[in-house]
Amino acid sequence: MFLQTILGFVATAATCLGASLQQVSNFGRNPTNIQMFIYVPDRVATNPAIIVALHGCGGTGQQWFSGTRLPSYADSNGFILIYPSTPNQSNCWDVQNPASLTHGQGGDALGIVSMVNYTIDRYAADRARVYVMGFSSGGMMTNVLAGSYPDVFEAGAAYSGVPHACFLGAPSATPFSPNQTCAQGLQKPAQEWGNLVRNSFPGYTGRRPRMQITHGLADTLVRPQCAFEALKQWSNVLGVEFSRNVTGVPSAGWTQQVYGDGTKLQGFFGQGVGHTPSVNEAQLLKFFGLIN
Ligand SMILES: *[C@@H]1O[C@H](CO)[C@@H](O)[C@H](O)[C@H]1NC(C)=O
Ligand SMILES: *[C@@H]1O[C@H](CO)[C@@H](O)[C@H](O)[C@H]1NC(C)=O
Ligand SMILES: *[C@@H]1O[C@H](CO)[C@@H](O)[C@H](O)[C@H]1NC(C)=O
Ligand SMILES: *[C@@H]1O[C@H](CO)[C@@H](O)[C@H](O)[C@H]1NC(C)=O
Repeated sequence: MFLQTILGFVATAATCLGASLQQVSNFGRNPTNIQMFIYVPDRVATNPAIIVALHGCGGTGQQWFSGTRLPSYADSNGFILIYPSTPNQSNCWDVQNPASLTHGQGGDALGIVSMVNYTIDRYAADRARVYVMGFSSGGMMTNVLAGSYPDVFEAGAAYSGVPHACFLGAPSATPFSPNQTCAQGLQKPAQEWGNLVRNSFPGYTGRRPRMQITHGLADTLVRPQCAFEALKQWSNVLGVEFSRNVTGVPSAGWTQQVYGDGTKLQGFFGQGVGHTPSVNEAQLLKFFGLIN
């Protein structure tokens, strides 16, 4: 009797410990054998939104879980976080891979979409409120997913990334690749960047993901020009023109670039900020429409 009471107490305590990051093994088609981790908050919303959060090169899903304050926002707002993790190519996403750059073809992109589908089915999540964010290689993959799977993602936020298909034609997209043409600021006309997105899903005429692009102006690993090129690309795809710069937003040293009225496309550039700007969760979640 005493033992049962103890065990009952332990079981209750365990459920009170709260949600944690969990690995999911069988989540569907996964051609590159990447891993899925998920964070479902204790008080998950009904019909919850989903954010896919992508680590940078050399990182893992578990590391990125503690890399931002998104989990505590999930606790208070009830959305679900998916943390994909790649063991391949120095833990960099395959953003140069034609399979990831084509809708439904394969690559890491398809595995990540399988994770989204799994989560929608398992938790009755809201298919219309699926978002993607990422840093560095994860920022690059954010642009890749927004280009190849516009039907899956409502919006994306890329930190220190490059345009969709910027690395196409390079052997890999790691910092150790001999070809850093893209990361050093490869420039193309807006129409050409836009065509690379449209060619990733020929015949698609639906809505396109809204995009938020953030970059440090002192980044030498992935040059800020890459973010200017990404803004050119999405400006062309979304059909919104540059309207104005707002200095001091969100804080001193930062400039917000507004396209149209800013609801579809915006950029943030930090003076003196290197490759690792800290993620501004509130700014990102407001843009996604998940907080006020
Ligand atoms: C990625 O790594 C996993 C685990 O080592 C391996 O099974 C898979 O074949 C790799 N995928 C690619 C595309 O290299
Ligand atoms: C995800 O779900 C959509 C809608 O059911 C489906 O069209 C698509 O093929 C699925 N993708 C994957 C990779 O499972
Ligand atoms: C280097 O990569 C770029 C894409 O990032 C590609 O256009 C170019 O052809 C590549 N150069 C060589 C020599 O492979
Ligand atoms: C807007 O801000 C960016 C980033 O600071 C800067 O590179 C660009 O020249 C500015 N554009 C205009 C029109 O002021």
